[in-house]
Amino acid sequence: MASTTTMRAVVYEKPFSVVVSEVEKPKIEHPDDVIVKVTTSCICGSDLHMYEGRTAAEPGIVFGHENMGIVEEVGNAVAVRISLSVLVFKITDKRSLCCWPAGKHLFREIVSGNHDLCGDDCSAYGYVAMGPYKGGQAEYVRVPFADFNALKLPPGKEHEADFALLADIFPTGWHGVKLSGFKPGESVAVFGGGPVGLMAAYSATIQGASEVYVVDRVSERLAKAKEIGCIPIDFSKSDAVDQILKLRGGREVDRGVDAVGYQATTGDGKTEQPNVVLESLIRVVKPTGGLGIPGLYVPKDPGAPDSAAAKGYISFPFGKLFEKGLSIGTGQCNVKMYNRYLRDLIISGKAKPSFVVSHEVSLDKAPEAYDKFDRRIEGYTKVLLHP
Ligand SMILES: NC(=O)c1ccc[n+]([C@@H]2O[C@H](COP(=O)([O-])OP(=O)(O)OC[C@H]3O[C@@H](n4cnc5c(N)ncnc54)[C@H](O)[C@@H]3O)[C@@H](O)[C@H]2O)c1
Repeated sequence: MASTTTMRAVVYEKPFSVVVSEVEKPKIEHPDDVIVKVTTSCICGSDLHMYEGRTAAEPGIVFGHENMGIVEEVGNAVAVRISLSVLVFKITDKRSLCCWPAGKHLFREIVSGNHDLCGDDCSAYGYVAMGPYKGGQAEYVRVPFADFNALKLPPGKEHEADFALLADIFPTGWHGVKLSGFKPGESVAVFGGGPVGLMAAYSATIQGASEVYVVDRVSERLAKAKEIGCIPIDFSKSDAVDQILKLRGGREVDRGVDAVGYQATTGDGKTEQPNVVLESLIRVVKPTGGLGIPGLYVPKDPGAPDSAAAKGYISFPFGKLFEKGLSIGTGQCNVKMYNRYLRDLIISGKAKPSFVVSHEVSLDKAPEAYDKFDRRIEGYTKVLLHP
């Protein structure tokens, strides 16, 4: 039981190790802040890059950028009320809506992570190189600029798991499909059947895809893809592109989504090959089609398989991409551009993204959950932590 000045939180200790420790409980630091008592915080595939020591994350970071809870304390300058259920996610360090809902300006801020483009900062809770804010895999989290950064949710627990996914992966999957230039009726190949890939496949289905292929090698993840009406492709059996083309009588798909990123592996899962998904997408998408790349690529990778990848240089067949006239969209998802609309799809019963959730555990079980999710074993597909 935490004292009044401390609380329990998931703290990064060293590569492949997180611990649940007592840390300082957050306080209101600015009149725009609120303190949220966390009811659910998810473990994200992006946390695994830090967990594995594949980023510059230093020991001591409290993880957790997918958070929801109840407002417990409010600063003098916020309109958000005590006891309101809210979702908190990537942070924009400002009060006004800027160019929202057009979103472009805001999106640039989120991508930039610094003051270069818009003169405003952008950050995330508990994420390396994204500001000083502590993560929400903890009993409490401080939310800066709360009137803008907290998404209001209806009271009650009915949609807790669905709403928790609005913090990142549902908007990111949706964004991946949008980045590909998708139009209703088109066919899509999604590489990666992790939480983001499954959300991209689900989003493509909701947006009216005629056929959705999901490529992975983890059987439980492929089973989830099948459950939502997609065609699972197991790339441990043979080349994924060959399998898709064979099923389609040689016809390429209209759009492709990379929901894997720089830690993509070969079919046996043993060797990392950072360019393999990009190369496959260029092969599998039809001329003039589009690639959406929400999967993460980093400018510096301390554990890269070669010296070029260590500097973020990934080689792929640009000549083929040019010849086919493919378009590419990539980058961090501007969660705020989508999440209130996706929230309303959940409330109206038209979306139920929680099918992806495999485990809901207490905060104390976080070390075990990180380990199993990282090894993609025992069906660990999406983990929700309840402090
Ligand atoms: N752009 C954004 O805003 C944003 C937000 C959240 C996550 N991400 C990124 O999206 C990516 C996916 O996230 P996740 O949570 O689903 O991660 P995850 O690691 O749980 O899932 C990745 C999946 O890709 C599969 N995979 C590996 N190599 C493959 C290959 N060659 N072909 C097909 N599948 C392959 C793995 O088996 C795994 O199931 C990560 O890079 C994450 O950092 C980006």
